[in-house]
Amino acid sequence: MARLRAFAGLTLLCLAGCVFALVSPWFLLFLAPLGVVGYSTLILTLTAYRLSPRGGDFQRRIHLLVVTSLSVPPAGRALDVGCGSGSLAVKLAQAHPGVTVVGVDSWAADWEYSAEQCARNARIEGVADRVTFERQSGSALSFPAASFDAVVSCMTFHEIRENADKTDGAAEALRVLRPGGTFVFLDLFGDRSFYPDPAALPALVGADPRPLSDLMALPFPLRHPKVLGHAMVVTGTRPPPAQGSR
Ligand SMILES: C[S@@+](CC[C@H](N)C(=O)[O-])C[C@H]1O[C@@H](n2cnc3c(N)ncnc32)[C@H](O)[C@@H]1O
Repeated sequence: MARLRAFAGLTLLCLAGCVFALVSPWFLLFLAPLGVVGYSTLILTLTAYRLSPRGGDFQRRIHLLVVTSLSVPPAGRALDVGCGSGSLAVKLAQAHPGVTVVGVDSWAADWEYSAEQCARNARIEGVADRVTFERQSGSALSFPAASFDAVVSCMTFHEIRENADKTDGAAEALRVLRPGGTFVFLDLFGDRSFYPDPAALPALVGADPRPLSDLMALPFPLRHPKVLGHAMVVTGTRPPPAQGSR
């Protein structure tokens, strides 16, 4: 929303500049930036709308896709890396009664999410007794290896600034997953600016990612390359350690 407000402000500024063309034609030069920031504002506005309940509820639908793609043993322990508002962690707990869920996030200033918001959402949704939230970076989780039965992450790995290689986020998430445990990762795995080597992720996780657009119909502008056009989902099971290995 902060980004949207900034672009909307710039659009208004450029529009105001264009109005001054009545005084001098030089002000028509504002038309070029108006086109760029105006288009960006339109994409951001429609994206926020599409993710919201009134615009098709795509944020909820994407989280439900992740939740329903995951199997967790009864009374198991699940982790959400980059939990944001806690929405996915809460849905995980609701879909798997008996499972405890931990959500971690860095909750940096450039995101409008917080631990308090997560805890409040868990309370409102009636799962506060099974969902906890911790401030942690997905680049170096504090949990011991193999401490979760299931791990999910949605649109987070590419955001981890400490990781020059964005597949490191998936590697760290897999580290805390027990052998035989399941994972569902959704990220911009098809965006070569974040994931330049298309073979790296499949080699790491042992499965091929599938475009999100193959799993659900994405309306404009969600299918735009700058929104979710490069989003892919990878699901799998962490293989048990090879015989004889430690
Ligand atoms: C696009 S949001 C996705 C939030 C949530 N997973 C969802 O699907 O609604 C990206 C999230 O990544 C988090 N994030 C950014 N850098 C992080 C880091 N180093 N460790 C953990 N989370 C991080 C942000 O705080 C933000 O909540």
